[in-house]
Amino acid sequence: MAMPQIYVTRPLPAPAMKLLEGAVQYRMWEREDEPVQRETLLREIVDVDGIICLLTDKMDAEVMERARRCRVISQVAVGYDNIDVAAATKRGILVTNTPDVLTETTADMAWAILMATARRVVEGDKYTRSGRWKTWEIMGFTGQDVHGATLGIVGLGRIGSAIARRSKGFNMPLLYHDPKHDDARAQELGATYASLDDLLRQSDFVVLSTALTPTTRHLISERELALMKPTAILVNISRGPIVDQRALYRALVDKKIWAAGLDVFEAEPVPMDEPLLKLDNVVIPPHLASASIATRIKMAALAAENCVAVLTGKRPPTPVNPEVLERR
Ligand code: DGY
Repeated sequence: MAMPQIYVTRPLPAPAMKLLEGAVQYRMWEREDEPVQRETLLREIVDVDGIICLLTDKMDAEVMERARRCRVISQVAVGYDNIDVAAATKRGILVTNTPDVLTETTADMAWAILMATARRVVEGDKYTRSGRWKTWEIMGFTGQDVHGATLGIVGLGRIGSAIARRSKGFNMPLLYHDPKHDDARAQELGATYASLDDLLRQSDFVVLSTALTPTTRHLISERELALMKPTAILVNISRGPIVDQRALYRALVDKKIWAAGLDVFEAEPVPMDEPLLKLDNVVIPPHLASASIATRIKMAALAAENCVAVLTGKRPPTPVNPEVLERR
């Protein structure tokens, strides 16, 4: 029997490629530093049984219409807002993602960004390198204390909970907002439920760890930012469009909030004329939350495993729309 054919939209780490070899035949976009162009993608997927993609690839109804034989779209990320899951489900295409393997790494990075922003690590580093460091100044580069401050987490899912667990060592009162109240989980974490407005009013640090959906798009905009303390810090490690960037820029310039740490942006890569890039009180890694070597290898391997499972008639470990399986 002929092997299933797949298209891989970016070279993956060796363990993932090894999982594919012998199980499927693949074609691949060979460049690591550039997403596959739309025309190439549309051309390459016409006869494939599966696609392994990244969050940089828009997998919409047009793609699915072209990929007539496609049975699985396997995303190398936990978030999948780049994939039209409803269109996939309608066509009987299984979508898979990579939850769990990146939870702890992503939570580590949320803290790295929070601490770097609160204690002005990036600004201080730039200052040292610039040769402007002349003396120790009593109030030079002073920031906000993390220990004992109130942490507000928006989205107490897997990653939000891992972020919450780490706050214990800093002795921080913990608030959370999540439309899915999970009282048992909140109790275990010592987190108190608050409405979004109350969380914004009371928190010293607001961390966004919620999925991007039509409901969460611009969840944090002018009104919400105005509720925050002038000393508060906003950290976004989920998806850029959850924050209205124009409103955030104004809030930072008008000193409505103190600083922001943003791993994600409305448009990625961030255009160089983005006004937020001009502000010293914004820390901006290039969407790195899951970027440890071990975790990225695990994510790619899980995506490969998901893809191969579907194409060899097995249940994939982490389906997004399992209802498609029931129909098969
Ligand atoms: C995800 O997995 O959704 C992250 O944003 C990338 O690791």
